[in-house]
Order: sequence, then C-alpha cells, then structure tokens
Amino acid sequence: MATIFPKWLNMVPTLLAMGGGGATMAVVVGTWYWATPDYFEVGYMPTQPGSGFNHQIHAGKLGMDCRYCHTKVEESNEANIPAVATCIGCHAEERLAPAFDPGEKVAFIREAYAKDSSVEWRRVHKLPDYVRNFPHAAHINAGVSCYSCHGQITAMPVVFQAEGLGMGWCLDCHRGVEKTPEKYLVPPDKVTNLFWVEQHLATVKKGDAQARKLQEQLRESPPQHCGACHY
Ligand code: HEC
Ligand code: HEC
Ligand code: HEC
Ligand code: HEC
Ligand code: HEC
Repeated sequence: MATIFPKWLNMVPTLLAMGGGGATMAVVVGTWYWATPDYFEVGYMPTQPGSGFNHQIHAGKLGMDCRYCHTKVEESNEANIPAVATCIGCHAEERLAPAFDPGEKVAFIREAYAKDSSVEWRRVHKLPDYVRNFPHAAHINAGVSCYSCHGQITAMPVVFQAEGLGMGWCLDCHRGVEKTPEKYLVPPDKVTNLFWVEQHLATVKKGDAQARKLQEQLRESPPQHCGACHY
C-alpha cells in the first residue's frame, strides 16, 4: 500500500478542486485520512452458522467446481452464495449413503430448508460502499483466477480473507498486467481449477507466450482512472 499511495495522492488536490464530483471525493479522502480502515484484514475469518461450510471437503476432496454453487460468477458482477436448496440436493435425509451422511452436522441445513428460511452466512470479503460494485464476470472471463484474489479456497476448511483487497492491491495487478501478464492471467477455462493455477503461477516463466496472448485478448486494459472503481 505504502508504495502505491504517493502516485495517486498527487491527484487529490486536483480532485478536491473539481466541484460536484470533488465533494464526494472530499468525503472519501476525509475517510481515508482520519479513519484507519478495518475492513481489509488478511486472515479475517468470521464464525459461520451451524457447522459452517467446508470448502476443503466439497471443492477439494469431492472435487466440486466453484460454479456448481457460485453459479453466477461468470455472468454477473456478483458471485452469489448458494441457497439451501443447493445443499439439500445432497443433504436431504437419506440422500447420501450412510457412510457419507454427516448426520447431525447438516441438521442446521435441513431445519432451514424445512422452515423455508435461509442460512445466514457471514460475509468474509467486503469492499467499502464508496467502491463501485466489484465486477466478477469481467475478471473471470479475462482469465483472472479466484486463486489470485481469494487464495487457495480448495484447501480451506473455513474461508478466510487471503488478500488485502486494498486499492494498492487492485492497482498492482491493473498496472502489472501489461508488463508481466504471466503473474496474473491463466487460460479462462482454468480459473476455477485452483490447484492447477497455484502450481502454474509458481512455475510459469517470465515472458510466457500464452500469457502474452491472453493479455492481447483482453477486451480493454484494466482501468486505472478513479471513476472505474469509485462513484
Ligand atoms: C457446494 C457449494 C460450494 C462450492 C462447490 C463452492 N462454494 Fe464457495 N461458498 C459456499 C458457501 C455456502 C459459502 C458461504 C459460507 C462461507 O463463507 O464459508 C461460500 C463462500 C465462499 C467465499 C467467501 C464469500 C464471502 O463471504 O466473502 C469464497 C471466496 C468462495 N466461497 C469461493 C469459492 C471457490 C473459489 C470455489 C471453488 C474452488 C467455491 N467457493 C466452491 C458454497 C460453495
Ligand atoms: C454434491 C453433493 C453435495 C452438495 C451439493 C453439498 N454437500 Fe455437503 N457434503 C457432501 C458429502 C458427500 C459430505 C461428506 C464428505 C465426507 O465425509 O468426506 C458432505 C459434508 C458436509 C458437512 C459435514 C462436514 C464436516 O465437517 O464433516 C457439512 C456441514 C456440509 N456438507 C454442508 C453443506 C452445505 C452447507 C452445502 C450447501 C452450500 C452442501 N454441504 C452441499 C456432499 C454435498
Ligand atoms: C480480481 C479479484 C477477484 C477474483 C478473480 C474473484 N473474486 Fe470473488 N470477490 C472479490 C472481491 C473484491 C469481493 C468483495 C466484493 C464486494 O464487497 O463488493 C469478492 C466477493 C466474493 C464472494 C462473496 C459474495 C457475496 O455476495 O457474499 C464470493 C462467493 C466470491 N467472491 C467468489 C469468487 C469465486 C468463486 C471466484 C472465481 C470463480 C472469484 N470470487 C473470483 C474479488 C475477486
Ligand atoms: C490479479 C489481477 C487483478 C486484480 C487483483 C484486480 N483486477 Fe480488476 N481487472 C483485471 C483485468 C485483467 C481486467 C480487464 C478485464 C477485461 O478488460 O477484459 C480488470 C478490469 C477491471 C474493471 C473493468 C471491468 C470492465 O467491465 O471493463 C474494474 C472496474 C476492475 N477491474 C476493478 C477492480 C477492483 C475494484 C479490484 C480490487 C478490489 C480489482 N479490479 C482487482 C485484473 C485484476
Ligand atoms: C482498480 C480500482 C480502483 C481505482 C482505479 C481507484 N481506486 Fe481508490 N480504492 C479502491 C478500493 C478497492 C478502495 C478500498 C480499499 C482501500 O481503502 O485501499 C479504494 C479506496 C480509496 C480511498 C480511501 C482509502 C482509504 O484508505 O480509506 C481513496 C481516497 C481513493 N480510493 C481514491 C482514489 C483516487 C483519487 C483514484 C484515482 C486516482 C482511485 N481511488 C482509483 C479501488 C480503486
């Protein structure tokens, strides 16, 4: 973060002098100046309801694709959290063979489903309100893997925040894609294969031709102007 701030900090006086839009920005800058943000804690891991949800079992051991549950991630800004009905597909009474049925551990899902209510999952990743709606689909379709932003979810019994999600972090990638695309882009059909991606990013060579090609195929360069991410 420290390395990135000076670059855009130069522009703050200009923004403050801009009138209309500047007024909004003044509020934003004030927030930045006076408050220490506590949203962006790497390692943040809220306690989930019931027995929680285990990505290591479902996405790792059972090999379920992220899109089985986060069905909208390729089409919309949002990466939706699945409804209880998705869980009930496997966790209705006597659906799984007794050897696999987690029994009591899934009682909270069965109860919610029976009452036609939902499970109140607690949000892990959350950008502040002055940042525009984060566009998942644009990133996924460009070949940015869930791994780059959420870490090795496939190995997490409980999801925690793996990356800072600060502005400097967004911009590091947006600026870096042109020079070193191999650090950020993978073939779009691999974005949800997090073990493959981890291995690939650790071993890919600088100047990799496939990464260069992916960079050339971007709809547009990742934006760096304030309006792309702020109101
Ligand atoms: C069987 C359904 C299912 C599958 C498959 C699944 N997820 Fe999830 N995911 C959930 C549920 C339910 C939650 C909410 C509970 C939680 O945060 O643990 C969640 C939460 C998350 C969160 C945290 C959301 C927040 O609050 O910020 C991320 C990130 C995530 N999943 C990514 C992935 C990725 C990446 C994959 C594929 C490797 C994946 N998920 C596969 C059901 C699933
Ligand atoms: C495709 C089938 C399938 C779906 C869909 C599914 N699960 Fe599971 N789940 C399983 C299986 C199989 C196990 C047992 C795995 C084992 O013991 O190795 C399991 C285990 C569990 C457990 C016990 C984990 C533990 O700690 O032992 C919980 C809790 C659970 N699932 C919750 C959920 C929730 C919540 C959802 C919906 C977001 C969901 N499951 C969706 C197949 C599924
Ligand atoms: C370029 C970074 C980036 C990539 C790639 C990315 N995410 Fe996210 N994800 C985020 C950010 C940032 C948030 C918080 C968004 C907000 O608060 O508006 C988030 C939020 C989420 C949430 C919580 C949504 C909610 O409404 O509670 C889930 C689930 C999720 N991501 C799943 C995924 C999955 C699955 C993939 C891969 C298919 C993925 N993400 C790829 C950055 C990313
Ligand atoms: C690991 C790399 C990476 C990270 C991290 C990342 N982005 Fe991006 N972002 C991209 C790429 C690549 C594109 C270009 C997509 C295209 O044009 O096809 C992009 C495009 C965008 C766009 C334009 C989308 C559109 O529809 O044209 C917005 C807005 C954006 N990113 C916001 C963010 C925000 C906010 C964050 C931080 C919370 C972030 N990004 C983090 C790689 C990244
Ligand atoms: C790629 C997306 C992106 C772009 C482009 C961007 N920002 Fe941000 N900005 C963010 C995100 C995400 C946050 C929230 C995380 C944080 O505080 O670092 C943020 C936070 C801020 C904050 C509050 C910082 C704090 O610590 O509370 C200010 C002020 C700000 N941005 C100003 C700007 C200005 C001025 C520009 C243009 C020069 C700009 N931003 C361009 C994504 C972006």
